[in-house]
Amino acid sequence: MSSSPDLQLPPGVVELREDVPLKAGSGSTSTRLCAGGPRLILAAFATLTAAITLALLTQIYYGDYEVVPHGSVSSSAAPCSRAGTAALRAGGRALDAAAAAALCLAVLAPHRTSLDASGSLVYWEYRSSRTQLPTVVEWGGEDAASGKQLTSRPPRLLVALAALHAKLGVLSWSQALQPAIDLAREGFLVSESLALEAESRGITGYTSTAHRTEPALADYLESLQSNTTAELCAAWSCDGAVRWRDDAAAVSVGSWRAWAAGAGGALAAEALHAAFGIDSLQITPSNVLKGVVDSLRTQWQTAGAQAPVGVASGLAVVDARDTYAALVTGLSMPFGSDAGSAESETGTPWTRDEPTAPLDLAPAIVVDQHVCGTRYVMGAESGAALAEGAASALSGGGAGAAGAAGAVDAVEGARVVVLPGGALALERGHSPPDLPDLATLPTLNASIPLPALNFVQQRGDALLSHADSRGGGVASRF
Ligand SMILES: *[C@@H]1O[C@H](CO)[C@@H](O)[C@H](O)[C@H]1NC(C)=O
Ligand SMILES: *[C@@H]1O[C@H](CO)[C@@H](O)[C@H](O)[C@H]1NC(C)=O
Repeated sequence: MSSSPDLQLPPGVVELREDVPLKAGSGSTSTRLCAGGPRLILAAFATLTAAITLALLTQIYYGDYEVVPHGSVSSSAAPCSRAGTAALRAGGRALDAAAAAALCLAVLAPHRTSLDASGSLVYWEYRSSRTQLPTVVEWGGEDAASGKQLTSRPPRLLVALAALHAKLGVLSWSQALQPAIDLAREGFLVSESLALEAESRGITGYTSTAHRTEPALADYLESLQSNTTAELCAAWSCDGAVRWRDDAAAVSVGSWRAWAAGAGGALAAEALHAAFGIDSLQITPSNVLKGVVDSLRTQWQTAGAQAPVGVASGLAVVDARDTYAALVTGLSMPFGSDAGSAESETGTPWTRDEPTAPLDLAPAIVVDQHVCGTRYVMGAESGAALAEGAASALSGGGAGAAGAAGAVDAVEGARVVVLPGGALALERGHSPPDLPDLATLPTLNASIPLPALNFVQQRGDALLSHADSRGGGVASRF
């Protein structure tokens, strides 16, 4: 009835009760975007339990992913995913990891990317997402080739990564180069897809699972280790070579929003927007896949000579502070446009690539409407891979807790191949998609696997990363 003893404290006595609210803003680095009350915690536990169950199940079937790590890197080569997570472990941010992995891929996957690769990046510091939308960064492509055929210019991927590192990297530039140098010097195992691609083009020296070194590449990269990226960018005029865009518009994909970059990414975003622009009750994996394939076919037919071409290597990074990087680098043709030509013997340890059409690069970040909902960071090696993989993941995996395993299934599921000119074919080695009109298509003969879709998915604070088996990669986390 009377007031509680607490209220009878004599003047001057300090209040020591613990229900005084903690000061807001203390320890700014520990603020989590997705904190909540007890209900949220309970819900999080339920989700986590379900996720772990699914994790175990998925582990049994796919064996390549983990839940709730500090950061994740997914790429089409296991040593390069590991180079990325090593950078995260050393205190690096998403850009440090992406740079280390991309340089590594330039050594291990010369049939898909190189030091002269063009590229597209979608980068987002998600904890600042209320004030800061994703940044899109692009370089190379067919624009760069028109007009000035400089006889000597620095390799494009290095120029772009130096520019990005100067702005967004926290580790030293030397650390970003080191894993690529080590692999080039000590050697790596030639992947099956590299061997197949080399064989189909009559390029020798790449035998599947053979040990290969690249001493000239190692020497060249090592010669750049003593400089800072600010020095290199002054010498290389990085600013003119890299296009930054902070105002990239999101494309609505049903209840999702997508930021995509690259010529392939633009077509994929359009296909996804069209396919999900139907009554929400009609959104099923097969309806959406059909919509995406129809849109891709039409777009490839109307694009004609401007249809995106080339090969690419895609990677996805999420760091411990929820910074996302979807990076795809690529070439106009396997091994670069100068591969095998007499000019390539001019003493540079890298091969030039001069694209004459837009490149099929397709990085993307896709988020659902809730701040703490599901987000995908996708490094897709073609627009079709992005459109079809994302369509499947967003239509089947978006709703319930089944999303975790669903996303892996969605990406691994059969795709419809959109050939140049818009003809369709079925993917070899996969059972056809469950669609009456598509099941009778011819099967693609090519033995070289389709472009991969490597992704990291974040739900609340849980990360799931997966490297598409088509790319032969493995995701890595720490
Ligand atoms: C890079 O570093 C070396 C050695 O410190 C120096 O001689 C060279 O001028 C530097 N290059 C640039 C472009 O700053
Ligand atoms: C695949 O190869 C077989 C035999 O080489 C050939 O008969 C068939 O037409 C090819 N299919 C396609 C879609 O190219």
